[in-house]
Amino acid sequence: MEVTHADASHSAPPPAPLGKTRGRWRARSSHHISHEEPLLRRPLPSPHGCKHRKEQAVWSHKLAVISSRTYISQNARPTLSFNTLPTMTTSTTAPHFWLRAETKKNERRTALTPDVCNKLIRDHSFAITVEKSTDRIFDIAEYERIGCKIAETGSWQTSAPADAYIVGLKELPETDTSPLSHTHIMFAHCFKNQRDWEKVLSRFDRGHGTLLDLEFLNDPKTGRRVAAFGYYAGYAGAALGLDVWAHRQLEGADTPYPTVKPFENDDALITHIKGRVQQAVKKNGGQTPSVMVMGALGRCGSGAVDLARKIGISDEAIIKWDINETKAGGPFKEIVAHDVFVNCIYLSKPIPPFLNREVIEAVSEKERKLQVLVDVSCDTTNPHNPIPLYDQSTTFDDPVLTVEFAKPHPPLSVITIDHLPTLVPREASEMFATDLLPSLLLLKTDRNAPVWADAEKLFKEKLADARKELA
Ligand SMILES: NC(=O)c1ccc[n+]([C@@H]2O[C@H](COP(=O)([O-])OP(=O)(O)OC[C@H]3O[C@@H](n4cnc5c(N)ncnc54)[C@H](O)[C@@H]3O)[C@@H](O)[C@H]2O)c1
Repeated sequence: MEVTHADASHSAPPPAPLGKTRGRWRARSSHHISHEEPLLRRPLPSPHGCKHRKEQAVWSHKLAVISSRTYISQNARPTLSFNTLPTMTTSTTAPHFWLRAETKKNERRTALTPDVCNKLIRDHSFAITVEKSTDRIFDIAEYERIGCKIAETGSWQTSAPADAYIVGLKELPETDTSPLSHTHIMFAHCFKNQRDWEKVLSRFDRGHGTLLDLEFLNDPKTGRRVAAFGYYAGYAGAALGLDVWAHRQLEGADTPYPTVKPFENDDALITHIKGRVQQAVKKNGGQTPSVMVMGALGRCGSGAVDLARKIGISDEAIIKWDINETKAGGPFKEIVAHDVFVNCIYLSKPIPPFLNREVIEAVSEKERKLQVLVDVSCDTTNPHNPIPLYDQSTTFDDPVLTVEFAKPHPPLSVITIDHLPTLVPREASEMFATDLLPSLLLLKTDRNAPVWADAEKLFKEKLADARKELA
């Protein structure tokens, strides 16, 4: 890994009781709704999915709590001006996209790659302005070469024309409360009552701007998100899981795993992880690791399976479970029999745990192969977390937490990073931008296409909620 060993301190503090949250209440605490990649096509969990009446009652209660509790700011509330929202018009004029520089730490991905910009400019006459950014994985010269205009970092606020779409990936800095007058395309993380959601929306209200949130762009035919990062979340999660496994063979389970930095490209990632796994296999007497992927048929799951294959794990050693294999209900002793477990399910209703302390401690040391657990799904603070062994997320700076068991069981290394695709920013951006392209083209030919009209309708609904909240 492109890492430093400097600040690694990877032993987790003792886990807080599950279901409790730390600090101020955040929407995320009851369901992982402020997740980097929450899927909107997934509705809030439905109590009707529960088998038993008692379960239904519990889940219904949780949902009532989720929907009734909203974050109440300790700070002064912004005032809302009750503006008339902009309505969409159909036009065949090519739009102007202004790709802003991201401001979030470690974010090297982008919503518009040079390749996609090239198609938009060359084939469809879009105008594109790209802000300089020291973090973006693509060099500014690549954008300039294909005819994008180049602008200074952050200059959209003062220089972008009123009709330009401001395109970004992650939310804007929380410290800026100025009114927003443009139409923004980004993941704003404010439609599900996340922290400060109403303040974020009030910026649009005060500036008469519009938010077309990337998380809520759905294909009207399939209900699926038009573009998502899930595949590379599973891919990156499995890569880190195998690297932590290699680290334990090479350095020992007690040596802290170092900080993680995004890779320049997929080749660099594969070369690195493959090399480390080969070294580790040599050191441990030729035993290759087995990898179990839960939710293997989904976006994240298929990414995890593909990564394991690329590293050279044989198909027999990649155990793929999905909804059929878990029908009987957990916990599953089978998980403990594999070196690396990658959880990629989409949790839509309460389910029995996949794994718990009792199952792990009940097996003999010989039966216990499991050393690394990667929780791509990251339902860590959900009261129905199917892996109730921890309740916190890890980060690129401090990627691994350790769960201890009764001796002689070795500890379990756990990764619960909620922005995994950032590990491979180039390929993750390429897949995302390519999937987004057909919808972007509709902004020229059919601005009222359902994908955009629905997103704007949702924005208006959320804005009305924010007004009520701040009234
Ligand atoms: N950590 C990150 O950086 C990151 C990034 C993106 C997505 N995610 C999260 O990953 C999760 C999966 O996302 P996705 O896009 O792959 O979803 P998806 O719907 O494409 O796939 C989910 C899979 O889980 C399976 N599944 C559901 N319940 C199951 C059960 N009880 N047992 C076994 N399999 C089950 C489904 O059948 C499906 O195949 C979501 O929670 C998402 O928010 C995390």
